[in-house]
Amino acid sequence: MIKVWDRFVRFFHWSLVLLIVTAYVSAERSETLHVWAGHAVLILIVMRVVWGFIGAPHARFCSFVTSPLAALAYLKALPARRAPRTLGHNPAGGWMVLALLAVIALTTLTGLANYAAEGKGVLAAVMAPTAVSVTDSRAGSTPEHDHLPGAHETDHDEHDDDDDAVWHELHELMVNLMLMLVAVHIAGVLASSWDHRENLVRAMVTGTKRER
Ligand code: HEM
Ligand code: HEM
Repeated sequence: MIKVWDRFVRFFHWSLVLLIVTAYVSAERSETLHVWAGHAVLILIVMRVVWGFIGAPHARFCSFVTSPLAALAYLKALPARRAPRTLGHNPAGGWMVLALLAVIALTTLTGLANYAAEGKGVLAAVMAPTAVSVTDSRAGSTPEHDHLPGAHETDHDEHDDDDDAVWHELHELMVNLMLMLVAVHIAGVLASSWDHRENLVRAMVTGTKRER
């Protein structure tokens, strides 16, 4: 047996699973828990990207990011059990890791934008100029317009509603994309485990795999 997945990668993986499930389940129940878990996911992703450059050999991007053709060749050979076994991520798995990291990051970032649309969180200050530009455009509005009862509030509310809706839709889209990738990821793990007659899930727990 040989050590493949270091402590950080294993901690990252299972914490990520736990936190994503927490964020998903709490989305419509508790905003506090949802936002807390979502931030923790973003921090984990940033740490994993850094680890991809400075971490243990099998955790480094350069050790598992191959050409897309190699990934296709691996997938083609899988059903016939002719796909070559790798100690780290296989060529198709490597692309899946990149896709998961990217889509999970976008899920959290659109979540932050969603939160900022409510005037809360770290992006609230950055996204404030949108509100300022609305104020600016109002400064140039005609006196007649200004005298319409409730004109300010109506313009402002409509603008905010549009913003909220866009971020809401994008956040939802990213969550659904992420769920699709996770389903394919789990199917891939099972297929590869079957193909090479080894328990890849256990390896992600213990960190070890048989050498050949
Ligand atoms: C929210 C759900 C999940 C997400 C977001 C996720 C994400 C990931 C990511 C990003 C990696 C790459 C690890 C790294 O190099 O740092 C990975 C690897 C892995 N995941 Fe998951 N995962 C999820 C659920 C699961 C589940 C439920 C299982 C078990 C059935 C699983 C089994 C594995 C295994 C075995 C690997 C290593 C694959 C290999 O040997 O190349 N994952 N996962
Ligand atoms: C992996 C992490 C995340 C997952 C899986 C996730 C998932 C979800 C889901 C399923 C919803 C419900 C969407 C709907 O109403 O149809 C939601 C809403 C929301 N999320 Fe997230 N989210 C994540 C991260 C974040 C982060 C980091 C933040 C902000 C800090 C955030 C802020 C929000 C807000 C404010 C809503 C309410 C949107 C609304 O009702 O307009 N999310 N999220």
